[in-house]
Amino acid sequence: MRLSGKKIILGITGGIAAYKTCGLIRLMVKSGADVKAVLTPNASNFITETTLRTLTKNPVYIRQFDEFEWKPEHVSLSDEADLFIIAPASANTIGKIANGISDNLLTSLITVFDKPVIIAPAMNCKMWENKFVQENLSKLINSGFHIVEPEQGELACGYEGAGRLADINKIYEKICEVIEQEKFLKGKRILVTAGGTKEPIDPVRYIGNKSSGKMGLAIADAAYSFGAEVCLVSTFKTQKPYKTIETPTAEQMQRVIPEKFHGSDALIMAAAVSDYRAREVARHKIKKDSGEMSIELIKNPDILDEIAGIKSSSQLVIGFCAETENLEQNALGKLEKKNLDFIVANDVSREDAGFESDYNAVTIIDRETRQLQTTPRLPKTEIAKIILKRVFSNYDVPAKNL
Ligand SMILES: Cc1cc2nc3c(=O)[nH]c(=O)nc-3n(C[C@H](O)[C@H](O)[C@H](O)COP(=O)(O)O)c2cc1C
Repeated sequence: MRLSGKKIILGITGGIAAYKTCGLIRLMVKSGADVKAVLTPNASNFITETTLRTLTKNPVYIRQFDEFEWKPEHVSLSDEADLFIIAPASANTIGKIANGISDNLLTSLITVFDKPVIIAPAMNCKMWENKFVQENLSKLINSGFHIVEPEQGELACGYEGAGRLADINKIYEKICEVIEQEKFLKGKRILVTAGGTKEPIDPVRYIGNKSSGKMGLAIADAAYSFGAEVCLVSTFKTQKPYKTIETPTAEQMQRVIPEKFHGSDALIMAAAVSDYRAREVARHKIKKDSGEMSIELIKNPDILDEIAGIKSSSQLVIGFCAETENLEQNALGKLEKKNLDFIVANDVSREDAGFESDYNAVTIIDRETRQLQTTPRLPKTEIAKIILKRVFSNYDVPAKNL
């Protein structure tokens, strides 16, 4: 049961090979998957709803404006699914997806879908060779879509050449492979920190920093989706399907991290921990009319220094640094000084990425090879995947192939 418990959306477009997806549905269902078929309106010329409803044992989705509960179908279906496979994928739908067009339920769904997508094109050989179709396909490949290439052979239209839907067993194997690969952190225990600490001055004021916690959160979410047992220690409250601990200050974090690190395979220290805190925290709000205010700051504990002292050779520690200049040099210095296995350096002087943004661009360096991997500006959710794949698979994964 290789697909046991997996929720799969099967997108079907208007091509003659639509009938072949019946065999694919049977393979997926037999393997334990819960399959929901979503058709383009044109696909319903090639295959009936009744057939698909019977084989999937689920409703079939075609019209975008059918009655739905409070969440439109293109959002709710996307939220619950683990994988999206489009077979057969027409030249038309490939073109729409590559250009962000969302004019039916299937194309709207794919635009919001942020998990693995497999495309199995099928079309006339001249369509397949068409320059624009190939350009659109390259766009999808570069954005991380998995493609099951069509095969050579006799085509329904009477031509002979490349364009026939790949064998359904091959498509099924690809689905299993992608699902299994998505769980490459199964059995790993990963401790992640997120957010900027808030060091109190009085009951209403604190010393903080610009870290929003989005990067750490994205890493914890990605590690969880890759199958890891995750513990997130964050400076803010958050509800997740994995364990979370709220530690607003550096001292609170310091009390939790070493204990949780014990038994973890890795610590990913994405939190921005304040170097200093107020020596005295006022019990009551400091009044403005008390005139000038000065706060004496004392050094906070250095959590990474402490971790370096207790870390075993099988545990990994990944640190982050936020730099505004000499990124590489400063990152290498911290890697060495803190005895880190990897360092992820952010150039926080950029206005279009980094602190508070949903985007980031990072440079990852490992201790052993000192090889630099610099990502383009990407959503933090994508950067999180790149970091995890680099750290745990030791691949040099280019962003576009994730
Ligand atoms: C009989 C017939 C078979 C077709 N087969 C294919 C095909 O295999 N691949 C393809 O890309 N288009 C094929 N087309 C053209 C598509 O149906 C057409 O481009 C349509 O706009 C696709 O819509 P959709 O992508 O929204 O499903 C076929 C059309 C007809 C009439």
